[in-house]
Amino acid sequence: MTMTTSWVREQFPLIHNNQSLVYLDSAATTQKPSQVIRRLAQFNEGEHANIHRGVYDLSQKATEAYDKVRQQVKYLIHANRDEEIIFTKGTTESFNLLAYGYGLPNLKAGDEVVISLAEHHSNILPWQQVCRMTGAKLVYLPVDDTGRIRTEVLDEVISERTKIVSVTMISNAFGTIQPVREIIERAHEVGAVCALDGAQSVPHQQIHVQGLDVDFIAFSAHKMFGPTGVGVLYGKYELLEKMEPFMTGGDMIEYVEQQSSTFAPIPTRFEAGTPNIEGVVGFGEAITFIQQIGYGFMTEQENKLTAYAYERLSNMKHISIHGPIDLHDRGPVISFSVNGVHPHDVTTILNEDHVAIRAGHHCAQPLMKEMGLPSTCRISFAVYNTEEEIDRLIESLGKVRKWLGYES
Ligand SMILES: Cc1ncc(COP(=O)(O)O)c(C=O)c1O
Repeated sequence: MTMTTSWVREQFPLIHNNQSLVYLDSAATTQKPSQVIRRLAQFNEGEHANIHRGVYDLSQKATEAYDKVRQQVKYLIHANRDEEIIFTKGTTESFNLLAYGYGLPNLKAGDEVVISLAEHHSNILPWQQVCRMTGAKLVYLPVDDTGRIRTEVLDEVISERTKIVSVTMISNAFGTIQPVREIIERAHEVGAVCALDGAQSVPHQQIHVQGLDVDFIAFSAHKMFGPTGVGVLYGKYELLEKMEPFMTGGDMIEYVEQQSSTFAPIPTRFEAGTPNIEGVVGFGEAITFIQQIGYGFMTEQENKLTAYAYERLSNMKHISIHGPIDLHDRGPVISFSVNGVHPHDVTTILNEDHVAIRAGHHCAQPLMKEMGLPSTCRISFAVYNTEEEIDRLIESLGKVRKWLGYES
């Protein structure tokens, strides 16, 4: 079947049934295709049971459905073993698991954790907490004026003291693609482990964790057509063996005595309590959907949309675009300001035309501060967006300053 945008749009009921809506906030969360919605209903109507516990058929079938998704994720990101895929609640929980599970037992005073100024808060706060608890120091890689991590200082900032490096692949605030290959290489040169925030990249590009030789990667299902409340922490098996459980309780145990316990094998050890079973099953269907469309088609469409939007926005008076100018350095995200207008006013006015975009600090306050921008407007694309929607955005943006009486 030849893939077309109109076919893709028909797969998303929320988009197909709301033609007046222009949804440009997929970096926050994507819409769900019918097949994911149907799979969730099908699971609840005929397959729901708790997993890893019952010997009865229904429970075994639910367990199989859950574990099959682990395998799907393994293939999606080219991991080595199913056990390297840990299901979490989202990228935020994945980083907490990593910081508390790996950082807390392996860091000590004098060690350093290196992150960058371009991080989402979920890749900052867990490290702040764990550094406080261990006496390790949190060190930042600086960024240039496009939000790109400055590679010329890698050797200086990542040193023999560095034990963990954790950086984003694509900035959610400015769309900047980060030089992660060089960062992974430098981390390994000094014997540190390197984690990546894949929340804005796994949804858009084929990731090969073994090819990258990355040690950990975190991402969320809801940013890639799946349900909310599901995420992944991938880790190399030998490093997962060095991790302590972060959450403890049911399901993650082998034996429990009154004063001590032994833990279940990896990955169950890191998935305490009843997980989001239906969410994981729905995520599996989202992966099937992505594979049906193909990363090639998705990337091509998203790049075209980004280039078109960038060009149209740059031709507008009173608009300043932030982040990389060369589109090869940018994911499907554009942050901009309307001169003289607060971003929240921009989004409120656009909302009158059913154009949904984001305004704020994008959970990246240190980056915003560094760039001298308290907040920006942000548009972000997924494969279901069209150039016509960008035309509607531009038309609506043209009204903003008039509404506020700056222009007639
Ligand atoms: C780069 C990045 N990292 C982490 C997160 C946090 O993801 P979640 O809220 O799904 O845990 C986001 C969400 O916007 C993000 O864009």
